[in-house]
Amino acid sequence: MHPAAWAYYSAGAGDEVTLRRERDAFEKLLLVPRVLRGVDHADTSASVLGAPIRAPIMVAPTGVQGLAHPEGECATARGAGEAGTLMAVSTVSSRRLEDVAAAATGPLWFQLYVYEGARPFAETLVRRAERAGYGAIVLTVDAPRWGRKERFLRVEDELPPGASAVSIEEELGEEAREPAALTPEDVAWLRSSTGLPIVLKGILHPEDAALAVEHGVEGVVVSTHGGRQLDGVPASVEALPAVVEAVAGRAEVYMDGGIRRGTDVLKALALGARAVFVGRPVLWGLAADGAAGVGRVLEMLREELELAMILAGLPDLESVGPDLARKG
Ligand SMILES: Cc1cc2nc3c(=O)[nH]c(=O)nc-3n(C[C@H](O)[C@H](O)[C@H](O)COP(=O)(O)O)c2cc1C
Repeated sequence: MHPAAWAYYSAGAGDEVTLRRERDAFEKLLLVPRVLRGVDHADTSASVLGAPIRAPIMVAPTGVQGLAHPEGECATARGAGEAGTLMAVSTVSSRRLEDVAAAATGPLWFQLYVYEGARPFAETLVRRAERAGYGAIVLTVDAPRWGRKERFLRVEDELPPGASAVSIEEELGEEAREPAALTPEDVAWLRSSTGLPIVLKGILHPEDAALAVEHGVEGVVVSTHGGRQLDGVPASVEALPAVVEAVAGRAEVYMDGGIRRGTDVLKALALGARAVFVGRPVLWGLAADGAAGVGRVLEMLREELELAMILAGLPDLESVGPDLARKG
């Protein structure tokens, strides 16, 4: 991978305190297995907003995948489909959302950024996503401005071609755009604008989760944006239990950030997540071997989850409960 692309993908904001914490928090959580349960196989199959997936491990929306592989998001979509799971496609994609849908073999959700001074563009994207068969709109709410990813900013000028975000540039031109500072009215607008399920991504505070549910969203993603927005926030897995409590079963709760092993997935499920998203590891698989690399990363995580479930005495996801995880 080009060093500037690596910097874009791997960097976190500021001093990367939250980026490191995403890993530390998982390592500090402990699993307490049960034995003598006769569990010799485990069923990892799950569903999200009614879509069946082979494991509760989905592909997070990450921008500009043309930097990792010439086929970009189209290859990722094929890899996710091969692994039997769902991909969320970023607004900042290197391939048109229609082309990703045409390449996909599994379910897709569309991640929406609303840009400052360009709200009609958001409406256009939603219509296009509906027509192309996307199953939900994931509105990212943690980015009223882009976080400062300093490791990337130092080498930004060296980015190789392939770094274009095609949908945005077609409609808005090539000048850099800042996202809009969203309010509950934007969520209400989206609710009235589409019949697709809505997922809000980037929730850490339980009151924001409650607000989201009151606006009729079907899901929330507890996320620090991979440590790329406000540095110094807790890891997503630390924020997760309070959000699960506030949502109280009224919407599906997912999380992302720092998932690198099947045991991390199990810990997140024990704390109440219905499923998780994976960001950077998918990009590494994509860079290494295109669609096959993405599929392999996702299958490795699924196999690790399956083994962890067997070793913990859990035959299926319904048997995962809060007594499985405790703080170290
Ligand atoms: C290179 C990169 C680009 C990203 N682009 C987006 C994006 O366009 N939209 C979005 O909602 N989140 C974006 N994210 C955040 C991811 O969806 C996700 O929250 C995060 O990567 C999860 O953490 P992980 O990388 O540790 O798995 C991006 C993350 C990375 C690393």
